[in-house]
Amino acid sequence: MTEVLVEKKSANQEVQVDGSIAYRPHIEVRHASAASVSDANAAPKMGVYDLDLYYKDFKALKHINLEFPENQVTALIGPSGCGKSTLLKSLNRMNDLVEGCRIEGKITLDGKNAYRDVDVNALRRRVGMVFQQPNPFPMSVYDNIAFGPRTHGIKRREDLDIIVEQSLRDAAIWDELKDRLKKNALGLSGGQQQRLCIARALAVRPEVLLMDEATSALDPISTGKIEELVGELKSKYTVIMVTHNMLQALRVSDKTAFFLLGEMVEAGSTDDIFTSPHDKRTEDYVSGRFG
Ligand SMILES: Nc1ncnc2c1ncn2[C@@H]1O[C@H](COP(=O)(O)OP(=O)(O)O)[C@@H](O)[C@H]1O
Ligand SMILES: [Mg+2]
Repeated sequence: MTEVLVEKKSANQEVQVDGSIAYRPHIEVRHASAASVSDANAAPKMGVYDLDLYYKDFKALKHINLEFPENQVTALIGPSGCGKSTLLKSLNRMNDLVEGCRIEGKITLDGKNAYRDVDVNALRRRVGMVFQQPNPFPMSVYDNIAFGPRTHGIKRREDLDIIVEQSLRDAAIWDELKDRLKKNALGLSGGQQQRLCIARALAVRPEVLLMDEATSALDPISTGKIEELVGELKSKYTVIMVTHNMLQALRVSDKTAFFLLGEMVEAGSTDDIFTSPHDKRTEDYVSGRFG
């Protein structure tokens, strides 16, 4: 049996920690199955080693070392501007598109150098991404999901039908959308659009799913659905999520890494980071003394 954290159901548990209110999450410890805790000896799905990242002369990430265990959820937390999105985007080389951006150090996928030994298109297929604002294409629900597979050469209607259904099922939105596959995706609610975007990311069969504050534009009910979904997705995928909501990190992640001003201050199991952080800055942040 392993101890994990649950937040206590109290009136102030919905307070966000990016506001100015000092706030200490109420935490209690309960026993849960060991299944949610990583095997420290397992090879990581992705790894970041001695990573420095520059935007022209500005050093946005400083000597980052962090591993992402397979079939686990890792949360990246820290105040605005500390480099969370930058790190996420370097994992699937989205930063290659930013002029003046360069990295030193190494990023690996299944032990292979993601910048040297993996084709960039293959990398982006294997490492999918979901953004803060739902961004469905202005086309039908079906065509949104089929878009990626079609670009990868899948044309047969029967094959696409299977992928569309499976992806929507995996994103926990099949029942809501199965009778609306021909409708324009822009007519869906924000929460449905975001789950559609998750389904679209899953349609190309990625191995890693990056989520950058994927619930911050959503209402609490949609947020709850996506958090629940993330818990299910980790049986098939490795999930790396940026969140500014510490309770969300506490609810859904197995591992948490805390960033400050381009440095990774501390990483560890989510319960350790929230109950017994080693660094005073981590403690101050997770207890809401600054945001
Ligand atoms: N394209 C860019 N060009 C120059 N600087 C950038 C760019 N993107 C982000 N930055 C800077 O890098 C730092 C980290 O930004 P970001 O990764 O977006 O932080 P976070 O996601 O933690 O809020 C910030 O100082 C930001 O201004
Ligand atoms: Mg960001």
